[in-house]
Amino acid sequence: SDVEELAEKLAAAQKAVETMRATGEVRGHLSKDGTPERVLFTQLPYVAEGNLNSPASIARLKEFGSSLKNTVDAVVTFGIGGSYLGNKVLFDVHCGEFWNAKSVKERNGYPKLYFNGNNIDARRTADMVEHLIAEARLKAVHGQPNSYKVVLVVISKSGGTLDTMSTFMVMYDALKQQEPLLNIEVVAVTDPAKGEKATLLGKLAQEQGWPTFSVPDGVGGRFSIFSEVGLVTAACIGMDIDAFLAGAQAMDQACQTSDIYKNPAKLNAALKFIAAEKYGRDIEVFMPYADYLKSVAEWYVQLLAESLGKRTSREGAEVFYGRTPIVAVGTTDMHAQTQQHQDGKKDKVVQFVKVVKWEQDAVIPDVFPAVSKLSEISSIYLSQALDVAREANAEALINDERFNATLILPSLNAYHLGELLYMLALSVAYEGELANVDAFDQPGVEAYKRLMGPRLKALKK
Ligand code: PA5
Repeated sequence: SDVEELAEKLAAAQKAVETMRATGEVRGHLSKDGTPERVLFTQLPYVAEGNLNSPASIARLKEFGSSLKNTVDAVVTFGIGGSYLGNKVLFDVHCGEFWNAKSVKERNGYPKLYFNGNNIDARRTADMVEHLIAEARLKAVHGQPNSYKVVLVVISKSGGTLDTMSTFMVMYDALKQQEPLLNIEVVAVTDPAKGEKATLLGKLAQEQGWPTFSVPDGVGGRFSIFSEVGLVTAACIGMDIDAFLAGAQAMDQACQTSDIYKNPAKLNAALKFIAAEKYGRDIEVFMPYADYLKSVAEWYVQLLAESLGKRTSREGAEVFYGRTPIVAVGTTDMHAQTQQHQDGKKDKVVQFVKVVKWEQDAVIPDVFPAVSKLSEISSIYLSQALDVAREANAEALINDERFNATLILPSLNAYHLGELLYMLALSVAYEGELANVDAFDQPGVEAYKRLMGPRLKALKK
């Protein structure tokens, strides 16, 4: 009945999202320089001539990936926010935790992959430099002197982000000094504008002759995982780019119907909006039951906070909108946060994610038959134990009228990941319409950036 009450608003949101999909126009959305900017992320799943992802651009990405196989030892990608979070998701889901500890053969020839620039952290950056030099020395000791190759992939739409560029410069300089023990190449991913309008990174790439990939116009950082920003990482690790985009495309098609019960993005947006507006549930705990989906929760934090945490106006009065996103992982956080979810303020929605079929799924063995408590849980699959824990958590929440929902992934692969991420991205477009906010700008972020710039300049010696 709450959804029915929202019928008029939902019809308007449907129309607005349809317009966005057809023309890129969203509630007079403006770019930083105040000119109208189109929102084009819904085009990304469709690979076609003249689209942001074209057959030629996808072929080039795949060639880039293949060119690294058995020739490059390590890739370090630099980026922050939208230029990092999605890439980490792709890495975690495709590679898991121990990718960098595997042999080249086990990695199917693809390089090790490291992330930097997602913080200005002096110690970790120094550690990473030291680690790469140590790896190059080890290779030399094993009879392959001066052959260690590192590719630095610098990702920045604006091309001058402090976090990204400062750590990149530190690492570039430190590794250059180690030549010929190791050698480095740089690839830049930035706004493709040329000439006067080129970004700082774009100009640098041109001067230095670095190959470039694009963060296209009309695709904001938090929506860029389906663009070359995310796909360049997918290429570096041999992830199935076609399947990932096919999943996003399937979800886009499912989300074109105005029937809310057949349109997952619209339903998700409506339920979360109602939960917040009508029932005061202003916090969203994103809680996948899978370690390798924790980074999806981290990606979602940015998507939700930057898209919907905005001041707006209703009937002439200023209103502050947006749920506070919280990262949680099941079962880990059942031993940390769940007490508060079950017993604390009734101000949350808990969004679970369940994976149905696990590629590896051990049966708990009966190794200590004399210990009845341990013997009782033997013969159960780990995935079954995980699911019982999630179900029990959800049921206990339901029993106390605490809001929760479960997204079900048939399995953890590129296709279903594409579906999930795309649904969440499109959902904030619907919710922006319902809440009367521009889901595609980030004025709060710009405010601190304006203060930071002059203070940094004052530090220069
Ligand atoms: O969503 C956003 O716009 C931000 O999180 C940016 O992605 C982040 O600030 C990094 O910006 P850039 O890609 O310009 O370096």
